[in-house]
Amino acid sequence: MYLTILFYILIKTQVSNSNCGCQLSRETDSCGDNPAAKYFKDVNEDFNDGAQTPHKVNIEDMALIKRNTFTMGTDKPVFVSDYEGPVRNVTVATFYLDAHEVSNIQFMEFVEQTGYKTEAEVFGDSFIFEMFISKEEQEKHKDYRAVQAPWWIKMMGVSWKHPEGPLSDIKNRMDHPVIHVSWNDAVKYCSHVGKRLPTEAEWEMACRGGLHQKLYPWGNKLMAKGQHWANIWQGDFPQINTAEDGYISTSPVVSFPPNKFGLYNMAGNVWEWTQDSWASDTDLKVKKGGSFLCHESYCWRYRCAARSHNTADTSASNLGFRCAADAMKNNL
Ligand SMILES: *[C@@H]1O[C@H](CO)[C@@H](O)[C@H](O)[C@H]1NC(C)=O
Repeated sequence: MYLTILFYILIKTQVSNSNCGCQLSRETDSCGDNPAAKYFKDVNEDFNDGAQTPHKVNIEDMALIKRNTFTMGTDKPVFVSDYEGPVRNVTVATFYLDAHEVSNIQFMEFVEQTGYKTEAEVFGDSFIFEMFISKEEQEKHKDYRAVQAPWWIKMMGVSWKHPEGPLSDIKNRMDHPVIHVSWNDAVKYCSHVGKRLPTEAEWEMACRGGLHQKLYPWGNKLMAKGQHWANIWQGDFPQINTAEDGYISTSPVVSFPPNKFGLYNMAGNVWEWTQDSWASDTDLKVKKGGSFLCHESYCWRYRCAARSHNTADTSASNLGFRCAADAMKNNL
């Protein structure tokens, strides 16, 4: 009994110590059973190759990722409580994945066609990173900070169209990823364009780009060839962002070199929602890839094996998505 409690406290401590806003939630947080369980071989033998999605999908700007078995997770977990391990072989059927994160312009087209209101707009607020608003605004919102990650402020009037509050706009970043979108919003968008969110296994296989058990989409070395490969944090988190990679916040959805599958920003830029639930008994959804706020010292989660979660209705400055589609015969 005491051991269980101690273990729980250890896990909890680790979670809060390793929090880069990964645990943002409109409601209370919980951690569940090991989701790796669903990736054992027998669970995956019966793959539905080429299942039909309802519409013919426009596969422009999507990468075709061929059926393969890859080694998922890591046996050298950085965040044990995130269940990054153990490694297991997972077979993924052929599918398409958006080459880049869904951009503001793409999301705007969807809203113009459907009149869709995001959850941040309906709730009237979203989580914003403190650096993006003035000291005055920060002071005004001091009671609206996330307890375990006080650099996150829940602010009124923040949405995908107004990422830093009612007076801000997205005019100069239409090619950046849409942010302040919840999992529920992402599902609506993907379904509107005849697609769906990728499963976590699909996402991770895509991230690895055919490389075996490497840390990043491009290999093991963060600054391979002395260059920046992803939009992450340089400097001391959360105070000083030197933006050596060129960006304080999001970067265009096509920026930094693509991986071997032609996919951009699988690591860094914004976290990406996946279809998967974190555990069977919660509405927490798995997100992958880390964001422009991640730094090795604090949130080394821009690794392919890294994973985190939020509730399905959470939205934030550093959380977006891309869509996947089944490979249909008429698309091949
Ligand atoms: C994965 O498959 C490879 C090749 O068949 C094998 O060598 C390896 O032991 C497997 N790993 C696991 C964790 O099952």
